[in-house]
Amino acid sequence: MSVTKPLPHDAAPLHVSGTARYVDDIPTPKGTMHLAFGLSPISKGRITAMDLSDVRAAPGVVLVMTAEDLPFANDVSPSIHDEPLLADGTVNYVGQPVFLVVATSHLAARKAARLGRIDYAEETPILTIEEALAADSRFEDGPRIYAKGDAEAAIAQAAHVVEGTFEIGGQEHFYLEGQAALAVPNEGSDMLVHSSTQHPTEIQHKVADALGVPMHAVRVETRRMGGGFGGKESQGNALAVACAVAARATGRACKMRYDRDDDMTITGKRHAFRISYKAGFDENGHIQGVSFLHYAICGWAQDLSLPVADRAMLHSDNAYLLPNARIESHRLKTNTQSATAYRGFGGPQGMVGIERVMDHAAHVLGLDPVELRRRNYYEPAHAGVEEPVRDKPLGHPDPHEDMTSRGAVETGRSVVRPVPAGGNTTPYGMEVTDFELHPMTEALLESCDYAARKAAIEKWNAQNRVIKKGIAFSPVKFGISFTLTHLNQAGALVHVYQDGSVHLNHGGTEMGQGLFQKVAQVAAARFGIPLEMVKITATDTAKVPNTSATAASSGSDLNGMAVKAACDTIRDRMAAYLAERHQTDPTAVVFADGRVSVGEESYSFAEAAALAYQGRVSLSATGFYKTPKIEWDRIAGRGRPFFYFAYGASVTEVAVDTLTGENRILRTDILHDAGASLNPALDIGQVEGGYVQGAGWLTTEELVWDDKGRLRTHAPSTYKIPACSDRPDIFNVAVWDCRNREDTIYRSKAVGEPPFMLGISAWLALSNAVAACGDGYPAINAPATAEEVWTAVQRMRGGT
Ligand code: MTE
Ligand code: MOS
Repeated sequence: MSVTKPLPHDAAPLHVSGTARYVDDIPTPKGTMHLAFGLSPISKGRITAMDLSDVRAAPGVVLVMTAEDLPFANDVSPSIHDEPLLADGTVNYVGQPVFLVVATSHLAARKAARLGRIDYAEETPILTIEEALAADSRFEDGPRIYAKGDAEAAIAQAAHVVEGTFEIGGQEHFYLEGQAALAVPNEGSDMLVHSSTQHPTEIQHKVADALGVPMHAVRVETRRMGGGFGGKESQGNALAVACAVAARATGRACKMRYDRDDDMTITGKRHAFRISYKAGFDENGHIQGVSFLHYAICGWAQDLSLPVADRAMLHSDNAYLLPNARIESHRLKTNTQSATAYRGFGGPQGMVGIERVMDHAAHVLGLDPVELRRRNYYEPAHAGVEEPVRDKPLGHPDPHEDMTSRGAVETGRSVVRPVPAGGNTTPYGMEVTDFELHPMTEALLESCDYAARKAAIEKWNAQNRVIKKGIAFSPVKFGISFTLTHLNQAGALVHVYQDGSVHLNHGGTEMGQGLFQKVAQVAAARFGIPLEMVKITATDTAKVPNTSATAASSGSDLNGMAVKAACDTIRDRMAAYLAERHQTDPTAVVFADGRVSVGEESYSFAEAAALAYQGRVSLSATGFYKTPKIEWDRIAGRGRPFFYFAYGASVTEVAVDTLTGENRILRTDILHDAGASLNPALDIGQVEGGYVQGAGWLTTEELVWDDKGRLRTHAPSTYKIPACSDRPDIFNVAVWDCRNREDTIYRSKAVGEPPFMLGISAWLALSNAVAACGDGYPAINAPATAEEVWTAVQRMRGGT
């Protein structure tokens, strides 16, 4: 049985030997052209004159295009058509593509792109939250508000109130493979596009619009990305469309890849937020009400900002049952890169808000921060909710027999809180029925020896003035499903050849997360054959149409189910044929261990496939899946946006040099819920990578724009992502052994994004270390860079 096995990534040997093929590695046809954009040097203004004669005269340049040269749609927006491929009269941020150079080499195109002479009538840009508010520059008419109960009244009556305002920085995706696309003109009006994208169907759609052809004339293929992290949901549109229009204009294949500086300058990043909070707690540390004000910096175009900002609101509760809550969200339009999807899709920002409240409240109430958190957790899942069903026909091994009893483990809460009148529901009215964090927290605290280490750290801090240590716990509850309900669908295409080998295709894309391997494991399991018999193939809009982006962590949930459906269709046809041949019932046909047995008779899978072929049985099938049970009204903020929740818990220990603010992570312990994991090795990889990326966001990764709106941190020299050496010295990661209560593929859970938010414990641990420098609450911003930590230490010690 191939599911649940800790198999390595299918492309691991190719990755490590440098032979995995990315867009830039695809052999190109003779005469392929290379593209580069000429970029706006100012953040807001009108184009008054454009002289591109030097660009046209530069060596190797074949064609230069502006907005006027585009024959059809000048639009690469994934949402409201507010994002021209090439600036149309006005520019809106430093780095906006203004013209397109087509040249004989990558270098020639890049050099020529710098020679444009363009006059602008400069206008005052909107760069800050204050400026955006003053100008009422925003997406949507006003703020969006989700509420439950009466937060204001509850806070007014509470024994303790904490309030504050803090900044959360954005984040550069820093996928190792930059954005890239290759368009190859085929006969007639057909176009083949290779794109490093999480969303081939959208590339197909945008290219079709730009070429003025139906979607059937455009085929998009994506074998893999060298990382996407949300940065390739929409940000690859511009390159693919540019390549396609240039290929149409020249009749040549056209390729474009951004140099790293250009990539960082042009493309959108994680949304920076400012969050204000006010929360009331009773004497026992039970939260009575909380009110959040979110300011999301969305950049110049809408892109995916509305659902991102919505998801931030939807995670403002994180793991806590809030009896009264009010979340007000402003989506501000600024003259900076159009902020976009990034692992967690706004969820992390919302979650940091409530974790800050819990940290602040524990400080004020003098309670252990873990204890305070546990007192406010959602009620535990109880036995009997959504009794799991087993996959009987194939005998999926069930290592999780005791799951239902497990959910009912004693909570360990020392002060019992009555369940509020609204029940165990989120601020948006969804009942939480699968809450796993009580036993997970218990298990993690025990395995990482939290209490003893916390006492040791307090002792250390009492004895050492320069190096201070900190420790913190943070939980994650992350909602799984696209909040735009119709996106929760997927398709697959499976062929069984007459030699028994299997061709597997589905709508998901591979970006390093291991989706293809997991889905291949599902296919092998359905046919009862070894994994080697299943060929994983590139995502292709001509094989599976109308797909959603591989995003929202739903890749294996959706595509795994679609593949299962396709395989089962073929398997059932084979079983019916063989049963008829042997005058027996199809249920007597068993697929296992690479063989197909019918009563006494047993065939190899290849023999069975050949027999079915000779019997004129179709050995090719599509599969389709749509997520059940979900419904969501984003305007009212009511419904069940998520099929289920994924959970995780982490404890991080840090050390801070209070003279410089420099710091490092000493140890991290994580327990993460991947349901009945399809592949524990890949899942642990996702948890480790997610944590490090999340901790990087909140500690060292700082984006700096100057007062002219120029991004000054546009290279690894100035923007510090975690290095191998920043991985915690001690890093214990385990997956929580528990089947999904909902009927997902083999009862697994999505794992791509949730662990990112475990990195919040690193930020809180720094806060904890700084708190040891004085009496007040450190109130640090994110990212807690060395400067930010040093400044907080000074504040605590009564300095500047
Ligand atoms: N892991 C790797 N190695 N590379 C990536 O680009 N993207 C993350 C996550 N893990 C990413 C990754 C993001 S943003 C998402 S939404 C999920 O993977 C998408 O894949 P899945 O739905 O198959 O989990
Ligand atoms: Mo992930 S941010 O949903 O691509």
